[in-house]
Amino acid sequence: MTARTLFSAGITGTGMSFPEKVVTNHDLEAIVETNDEWIIERTGIKERRLCEPGVPASVHGILAARQAMAMAGAAPEEIGLIVVPTVTPDMMFPSTCCIIQDALGCKNAWGYDLVAACSGFIFALQTARAQVETGAVRKALVIGTEVMSTIMDMQDRNTCVLFGDGAGAVVVERMPTGQEGIIDHVHYIDGDGARFLYMPAGGSLHPASAETVAKRMHYIHQEGREVFKYAVKGMAGATRAVLERHGLTGDQVKLFVAHQANLRIIEAVQKRVGLSDAQVAVTIDRYGNTTSATIPSALHIYQEQGVLQPGDLVVLSAFGAGFTWGATLLRWTVGA
Ligand SMILES: CC(C)(COP(=O)(O)OP(=O)(O)OC[C@H]1O[C@@H](n2cnc3c(N)ncnc32)[C@H](O)[C@@H]1OP(=O)(O)O)[C@@H](O)C(=O)NCCC(=O)NCCS
Repeated sequence: MTARTLFSAGITGTGMSFPEKVVTNHDLEAIVETNDEWIIERTGIKERRLCEPGVPASVHGILAARQAMAMAGAAPEEIGLIVVPTVTPDMMFPSTCCIIQDALGCKNAWGYDLVAACSGFIFALQTARAQVETGAVRKALVIGTEVMSTIMDMQDRNTCVLFGDGAGAVVVERMPTGQEGIIDHVHYIDGDGARFLYMPAGGSLHPASAETVAKRMHYIHQEGREVFKYAVKGMAGATRAVLERHGLTGDQVKLFVAHQANLRIIEAVQKRVGLSDAQVAVTIDRYGNTTSATIPSALHIYQEQGVLQPGDLVVLSAFGAGFTWGATLLRWTVGA
């Protein structure tokens, strides 16, 4: 804790929500020139969930948040802050946060959307943590929710096989005196990486027009090989940095939850940090890359499986468009 921190903040509830529709690699074979073996070998993805057309990001965000609040025993009026990391908001404005706040009945909350792409959840978690640590709010919601299918180019095999839709949420709240929760973070951005992963149109640079649509500029554009290299280096470096700052080594970590973009990226980071398979969360095989939802939904899955126990040391790490990346060190406090 820093000198100005009055309280400790910890995660007390998790939730997730995914669409029912399962899209397998074989299903994608009918749409683009690809095959199940290539996708599994190069990414680790076997299937993903995709929303039906017309389902916006708020829908699964609301469901995930309700689960997290139920686990935390948090009533809607107790929530003081809602942060929604997303790159697929319902609309440019109002924020998806406002739409979710209204649906949940969190009348005493303020909040906002946050754009940090695949690092969105860990960045948003820190902003919630800071509000709780200063005493400004007691309980906060962080909700990563995405409908990546709305920005996936189904004619581009380089990207359309990678992503999925869904949401994950956590409740962050003030811990009893003396109890450790979220301990530390290291975050970085480097705008020089913007050219490797971006969605060109829809903002003020290229507002929507017949031309932007015709040129397929409202979809994800990515140079995968470049992103891969930076992602491994970035997540391994940030994870080691946050551990070293606290005199910790990999073997003391119960669970390492990396952003799920590619199984080969996760395995390369695992090797560099020196972690065993049992310490590493993997959900990409079932859900693909759901951007800001990968880490909170993985936390929910490992909580429900009984893998995470109060007091466990957990490290989160993410890398995304921007570039943005970082790592978070925390004690598991659900049920503590
Ligand atoms: C995208 C990614 C899976 C591609 O894997 P890769 O091993 O780097 O593959 P390459 O880009 O080198 O492509 C190898 C070949 O496979 C082909 N290929 C690409 N997508 C394919 C697909 N879905 N099915 C079959 N072949 C495909 C390429 O066209 C290329 O063919 P070529 O050599 O004839 O040009 C990988 O680079 C990656 O995961 N990058 C990071 C993505 C990421 O994390 N993004 C989210 C932000 S964190």
